[in-house]
Amino acid sequence: MTLRHLVNLSDLSPTEFRGIIQRAIELKQSRTSYEPLKNKVLGMLFEKSSTRTRISFEAGMIQLGGAAIFLSPRDTQLGRGEPIEDSARVISRMVDCIMLRTHSHRTVEIFAHHSRVPVINGLTDRSHPCQLLADMQTYFEHRGDIAGRRVAWIGDGNNMCHSYIETAGMLDFRLDIACPEGYEPAAEFLARAGDRVRVLRDPAEAARGADLIVTDVWASMGQEEEQAKRERAFRGYEVDEKLIALAARDAIFMHCLPAHRGEEVSAGVLEGPQSVVWDEAENRLHAQKALLEFLLVESSPVRRLAAH
Ligand code: CP
Ligand code: NVA
Repeated sequence: MTLRHLVNLSDLSPTEFRGIIQRAIELKQSRTSYEPLKNKVLGMLFEKSSTRTRISFEAGMIQLGGAAIFLSPRDTQLGRGEPIEDSARVISRMVDCIMLRTHSHRTVEIFAHHSRVPVINGLTDRSHPCQLLADMQTYFEHRGDIAGRRVAWIGDGNNMCHSYIETAGMLDFRLDIACPEGYEPAAEFLARAGDRVRVLRDPAEAARGADLIVTDVWASMGQEEEQAKRERAFRGYEVDEKLIALAARDAIFMHCLPAHRGEEVSAGVLEGPQSVVWDEAENRLHAQKALLEFLLVESSPVRRLAAH
């Protein structure tokens, strides 16, 4: 079976990305027990906190018949300086798949390079591909195909924003990013995206007529000491009722969570009729089950689809 990873979204073809979304929708609706990962083990290494990522991967593995092992840096020799290369070689001889949440994206790349088994990026400082599988599943479920639609990203040009930029190219939507000066997404992501992605200053300009409005925290994990400075820089970038009113009439709102009410999003929008954030969070489970099946089961529907 060909070894595949999900370190960057570009590790998938657009056909595979769409296939995983469709498979996630199918798995979510299925009521029959399905255990293709019996006796398979997922190793999960977390350098940062997590609610959704940890629980969805762990529950997903159990539901598919396998098991998951949770490790923080305090539990492994990685935390005491054992090289990433050595850890990858050893751990990947014992488990069937490895998920990592790290500060540096490079850690996941090095790990994948030395791993015998599939490696999944569970969030780095550069990107959050698993969240995009869930976000896109959620859009497809609520509004159908996202191709040709317009998405507004309001706030920090962070890891989530980078993953939206990558997805715009793969699933064929336009993306307007509204961010303050100095908080733009990395130039390399923008350069690859071409003119389907615009960086604006005015949140209203990005939101006007948009089909999907997305935001995220102003200070990501690891940036806690910048919180006050960022609150000042992002003043005026809150997604509130006034901003949402500028979007298309049937626009929906997403946030990967955890959310800070009264900062990047108002309580009214988060709890309002256009918000799909709870479905979005639940879909982490379904989208990652489809991903695990794709990476670990040779006869999986998405592998077969992609082979044609
Ligand atoms: N959205 C997300 O990745 O949540 P956690 O940090 O709780 O995993
Ligand atoms: N940008 C946020 C996403 C959390 C899921 C962070 O990196 O902390």
